[in-house]
Amino acid sequence: MSGHGNPIPMTSRKCGPLKGEAHVPGDKSISHRSLILGAMAVGETRISGLLEGEDVLDTAKAMQAFGATVTNHGGGNWSVHGVGVGGFAEPENVIDCGNSGTGVRLIMGSMATTPITATFTGDASLNSRPMARVTDPLALFGTQAVGRDGGRLPMTLVGAEDAVPVRYTVPMPSAQVKSAVLLAGLNVAGQTVVIEKEATRDHTERMLTGFGAEISVEETDEGRVITLTGQPELKPQDIVVPRDPSSAAFPVCAAVITEGSDVLVPNIGLNPTRAGLFTTLKEMGADLTFENMREEGGEPVADLRAKYSPNLKGIEVDPTRAASMIDEYPVLSVVASFAEGDTVMRGVKELRVKESDRIDAMAKGLRANGVDVDEGDDWWIVKGRGFGNVAGGAEVDTVLDHRIAMSFAILGMATEKPVRLNDGGPIATSFPIFETLMADLGAQIARNNS
Ligand code: S3P
Repeated sequence: MSGHGNPIPMTSRKCGPLKGEAHVPGDKSISHRSLILGAMAVGETRISGLLEGEDVLDTAKAMQAFGATVTNHGGGNWSVHGVGVGGFAEPENVIDCGNSGTGVRLIMGSMATTPITATFTGDASLNSRPMARVTDPLALFGTQAVGRDGGRLPMTLVGAEDAVPVRYTVPMPSAQVKSAVLLAGLNVAGQTVVIEKEATRDHTERMLTGFGAEISVEETDEGRVITLTGQPELKPQDIVVPRDPSSAAFPVCAAVITEGSDVLVPNIGLNPTRAGLFTTLKEMGADLTFENMREEGGEPVADLRAKYSPNLKGIEVDPTRAASMIDEYPVLSVVASFAEGDTVMRGVKELRVKESDRIDAMAKGLRANGVDVDEGDDWWIVKGRGFGNVAGGAEVDTVLDHRIAMSFAILGMATEKPVRLNDGGPIATSFPIFETLMADLGAQIARNNS
């Protein structure tokens, strides 16, 4: 469990073809935002298909602590009785966001312009991650923050009493920072403007529109200029959470590298700000087809079929696509290991400040399992060995990072010898049904003691 429980060592072995349907859980980004915006609306928001991973459950608890009523009706159906913009109460205790950077950063934004005080903490991974990227722009509203050295959690925020609207250009491609500023702007009279030079996931903008806020987006020479008019009355919504493309990435990549596979992943969200991995895999020669393209709840959705793809080639990944696949580079590097030739990934500095330093974690684990990797501050190159030539056989450190753990579980499905994970526990933060879903498709990923 994301640093809270005993490690869960696992082993992943070569397996036969993967077949069947992979019903992956709800989108993590949209799940967090459904709970937070639901808590800021007046009345009852109903959510179906909520991701019930630890990250999102921690956000649900936090919204309760700020005064919303969050109810689990079973089967992925939840409701949030919101207290309105500016209606948050001061929490009685410390807010523990577990492993979730999205949770803590968005919640900080949502309370930053209400005159209450809240203290935030998390697990060892979250408490080592930079928070100044959020508290710096929040300070412009008048929010005070006191944390540990380097702007780390635990950290206390004192919400601004008479906040002034802000115009802020986000210095790094980060949907979390953009969203924190927009959520803070909700309780401020006047227009808050956020500018991003590169487009990042736009769920906050889409959902704010759905909840009835006045928000406009303009593409200019400066970048994407988002203008939000403060102090709206947010209207409760019925939200159907699409399935998470970042979770779909694991069974999809597993099918691509496992001989004879044919897997259908139904109902996945294909928002263009999230779908970069699938474009990249196709460029590498992966056999992917989108079926039944449609729109649901303001988000594009499709069924994705992935088949074994024996002729993968290494490519230079278009760096302008980085934000739209930022969480997928670890599993892409696994697919790249079985391609012929180098896969070059540039413009990916943000990977160094995720749940772990993901370039470092993947490079170490891939090298230990027989794949050469070169790396620099904001780039890395995986030297593909082709099918049948990746040795495996080593144990990897999953460094409290769900995507590192799942990526190495996928690696072991096509290596010559099994790949061992020192701890599969972090998987529960985003994909609690990963082990059963993969087993049902035919994978052999098992806990060492079972
Ligand atoms: C997320 C934004 C991204 C992503 C994270 C989810 C979000 O983080 O890596 O998993 O829901 O806004 P950054 O904003 O740090 O890029």
